[in-house]
Amino acid sequence: MCGIVGYVGKDNAKNVVLDGLKRLEYRGYDSAGIALIINGELKVYKKEGKIRNLEIELNKLNLFSSIGIGHTRWATHGKPASKNAHPHSDCFQKIAVVHNGIIENYVELRKELQSKGHKFLSETDTEVIAHLIEEELKETPNFFEAFKRAVSRLKGSYAIGVISSLQQDKIFVARKDSPLVIGLGEGENFIASDVPAFLPYTNKAIFLDDFELAVIEKDSVEIFDFNGEKKEKEVHTIPWSIAQAEKAGYKHFMLKEIFEQPRSIADTISGNMSWLKGDGKLEGVNPKSFDRIQIIACGTSYHAGLIGKFYIENLTRIQVEVDYASEYRYRNPIVNEKTLVIAITQSGETADTLAAMKLAKEKGAKTLAICNVIGSTITREADTTIYTYAGPEISVASTKAFTTQLTALFVLALYLGKERKTLSSEKLEAYFKLLMEVPSKMEEFLNTEKKEEIVKKIALEFYKASDALYLGRYVNYPIALEGALKLKEISYIHAEGYPAGEMKHGPIALIDETMPVIVVATKGKVYEKVLSNVEEVKARKGRVVSIVNKGDKAVKQLSEFSIEVPEVNEFLSPIINVVPLQLFAYYIADFLGYDVDQPRNLAKSVTVE
Ligand code: AGP
Repeated sequence: MCGIVGYVGKDNAKNVVLDGLKRLEYRGYDSAGIALIINGELKVYKKEGKIRNLEIELNKLNLFSSIGIGHTRWATHGKPASKNAHPHSDCFQKIAVVHNGIIENYVELRKELQSKGHKFLSETDTEVIAHLIEEELKETPNFFEAFKRAVSRLKGSYAIGVISSLQQDKIFVARKDSPLVIGLGEGENFIASDVPAFLPYTNKAIFLDDFELAVIEKDSVEIFDFNGEKKEKEVHTIPWSIAQAEKAGYKHFMLKEIFEQPRSIADTISGNMSWLKGDGKLEGVNPKSFDRIQIIACGTSYHAGLIGKFYIENLTRIQVEVDYASEYRYRNPIVNEKTLVIAITQSGETADTLAAMKLAKEKGAKTLAICNVIGSTITREADTTIYTYAGPEISVASTKAFTTQLTALFVLALYLGKERKTLSSEKLEAYFKLLMEVPSKMEEFLNTEKKEEIVKKIALEFYKASDALYLGRYVNYPIALEGALKLKEISYIHAEGYPAGEMKHGPIALIDETMPVIVVATKGKVYEKVLSNVEEVKARKGRVVSIVNKGDKAVKQLSEFSIEVPEVNEFLSPIINVVPLQLFAYYIADFLGYDVDQPRNLAKSVTVE
């Protein structure tokens, strides 16, 4: 998730674009760049780090241009560095491109263009777009036609902005699976990944839909479909303040990030296709070189690790141990060159996880990181890294990073199963199809059926609770742990997650008519067992809140409240089942009036031991 901004009009595009980028910094902040047309020439300026660094550079130069595009980056392909910052150009620096999304077929396009003599300066997927337009201009002098043809060669998700010294008064844009909005001004127009970028100038906006192109000049905006047919679009009036807009109208980043999960899961699947599908290979780790796996992580990432163990052991029969990184580093673990150590960390900077991985490396282990931040320390230390494409996670309470970690772990298990031949290609295809269903099923829960309202009502019942017990079994036991952690960290209510079968060995003593007991009871091989655990709770007057699948009767009957979630394959059900628990904790904390995004005593990245 990056931020794109563009401007054409009477003011200095340098200032307007920089200003807009600063308001989109929550979308990515590891490097930034701008392209301007000055005296007929295309000028590109890029800088690593926050937008401030770029601004300081630009303010040294007395620049004026009436047209410009800019970008603030959240690296997906190529580490944070000014050479990988956008805009990217063609061989003759006549075309500048900014892009948000993932070009899935960039490797083959790059090879094709290199064979035609194009020179690439970055490690990014995006740069192919500038060279593709350059190549198409050899076939047609019509810039829009060349742009349209270049876009038709792309696979993946993209919001693209292009300016060129060959067309000095126009911005060209394209959208597929990545947000792009046009801001309409008087004698000036804007493009952006999100409305906060131009809200101080105009609240009139056109939201592009997938498979749409547009040509923006200072006095006109033309929109086309991918065949070049003209389209009429509705102009919206944005009712939000800038602060509201940065959260896309959500009250907190946490709620926004919960609703971003269908997108980030889809991005994490597509972002990792290059090594899972076909004869792709995960560089840096030989899938047959180890006979044991150890997963190390902290907090929410540790809970993802517990589910990763299910995926990998069941799809590859490799033994997997899961450790809190802070314990692993002192328990003198049995680890050697026949061990693969997987470090899961959203930030890539968690001190305990870094130290634990360092220890494993010292003992000869191969190391793999699952991380959300390109260029972070762990990605530089690990032998290889699998990225989750959740985009920046602003809220301290991790939500979308967790579900993308589960997605990445499932993709890894499929890959190891394929490479070690414990998974037939039929089975692989079947599991992959099931995984591809998850984003739309989650969309169904969040947006179609608006189940959030039901969760809100239930949270209103319990926000005064002093304790809560979460129960789950088998692959959903870690979801009980995660639900309890979410409630603890943002509402400060004491909560425990427990394997439902373990309850009768102690925690059942806690249950009375005041205790909310949240039970994950979706369909699967342990459903009957969970049902009897709910009966045990009910017998002690516990207040049961159950997560069930549509059409469930037995558990619903025993529950004071039930939240229905779409049914998916049992292995993948944790990715869906955690969402109502995230919302439940969110609404309780919100009802209690806490700063949900910055809870007390917590930091987004714990860089101390
Ligand atoms: C989760 O909501 C918390 N922010 C915390 O437990 C977090 O998961 C933990 O600190 C690990 O962070 P990491 O994934 O960045 O390593």
